[in-house]
Amino acid sequence: MDKIVSLCKRRGFIFPSSEIYGGLASTFDYGPLGVELKRNVKAAWWKAVVHDRDDMVGLDASILMHPDVWKASGHTDSFNDILVDCKKCKNRCREDHIVGGKCPHCGGKEFTKGRAFNLMLKTHLGAVEDGASLAYLRPETAQGIFVNFRNVMDTTSRKLPFGIAQIGKAFRNEVTTGNYTFRMREFEQMEIEYFTKPEDAEGCHKQWIEDRLNWFHDLGIRKENLRLREHGKNELAHYAKACSDIEYQFPFGWSELEGIANRTDFDLKQHSKFSGKDLQYQDKVTNERFFPYVIEPSGGVDRATLAFLADAYHEEEVEGRTRVVLKLSKQLAPTKAAVLPLLKKNNDIVVLAKNIKKDLEQCFTTVYDDTAAIGKLYRRQDEVGTFFCVTVDVDSLEDRKVTVRERDTMEQQRIALDHLKTYLIEKLSN
Ligand code: GAP
Repeated sequence: MDKIVSLCKRRGFIFPSSEIYGGLASTFDYGPLGVELKRNVKAAWWKAVVHDRDDMVGLDASILMHPDVWKASGHTDSFNDILVDCKKCKNRCREDHIVGGKCPHCGGKEFTKGRAFNLMLKTHLGAVEDGASLAYLRPETAQGIFVNFRNVMDTTSRKLPFGIAQIGKAFRNEVTTGNYTFRMREFEQMEIEYFTKPEDAEGCHKQWIEDRLNWFHDLGIRKENLRLREHGKNELAHYAKACSDIEYQFPFGWSELEGIANRTDFDLKQHSKFSGKDLQYQDKVTNERFFPYVIEPSGGVDRATLAFLADAYHEEEVEGRTRVVLKLSKQLAPTKAAVLPLLKKNNDIVVLAKNIKKDLEQCFTTVYDDTAAIGKLYRRQDEVGTFFCVTVDVDSLEDRKVTVRERDTMEQQRIALDHLKTYLIEKLSN
């Protein structure tokens, strides 16, 4: 993990938040390459679950919502961690994080009685900080979807089964922090609420588990680093009938990447009750009215990004040196091509290289770099996962060809400038 954290800091993927003030626990900022990677993760998700499907639409609900939303959803009463204090070292920790009856900090075996701690972050709206102006920063994006169920139904005339997808920030006052971006107080979620007839819910649940597992694998995560874990009855959230986690083998151990829950009709029923608005679905053929069941694949953008980074990180011995290479998939690599002049003192080479960069960046993310010798430039691009290096040399001025080097194989080929763009586009779309 230390190597990944160090690479992310050194090359501008992830920085500690407000670092010049000493940082703020469990908050992080994405740097120039990190933001590209994260945007690619979100774009791949959106394409797979919204644009490539006929049964899904998107939504972007606000972070601040009416406080009654959280009463109805059960978060005001039930979104708690049970905390205990170790009597030996006085550290506070989550009761469910105690393994084998021992304090994770000092190994102590005696604890205070568990107390509930609500994880929602509060704020006040308007000029007066009284109870009436209390609002919460949403702890999950899901509720924005449920409260818009009727709006989406009325404006899109959807028939069951169909789903609503959303990507957005969520906030939790996490007690146990650490493990880098795995558990943060401000993070992004990618959530789907998939509405179905109650009798079809179990089948839909199974299908979504398979689809989501395939999504991670298709984007490059090795199968042996992914597994499914079904929740026991005692660990299910208050709204769930069943839940399976997709777990990833992070450097700190197997941990949850995404949860796929059967939320039943809990949320729509609750919001109908608390708002007084009828959120039932009416079948156009039978006229039957009922609350649909909901299957919820709920993942974290930051956790997915961390898993993609961890899985892509490779060290290889090449000609007596260690090559660090991020083998990110084509869709996720922040930069697809780097254009590198072999001699930066030769103005003709530099001009040609800059023109190639300009041309390629119309189609995919491309950078130009002339700040080191070619060997070092290759190593720099390998380390951040750039898919192709395009080198312009003296011969290029004569034969109008450039050297294209592929990141994973390090194979080099001379490609005619006229064909360069189509060659790279073909390779990237294969
Ligand atoms: N709507 C259901 C829900 O929010 P969850 O298991 O609490 O379920 C879903 O969260 C996903 O959100 C998790 O699988 C994880 O990827 C991400 N997530 C949750 N808490 C997080 C945190 N503190 N930091 C980063 N990601 C988090």
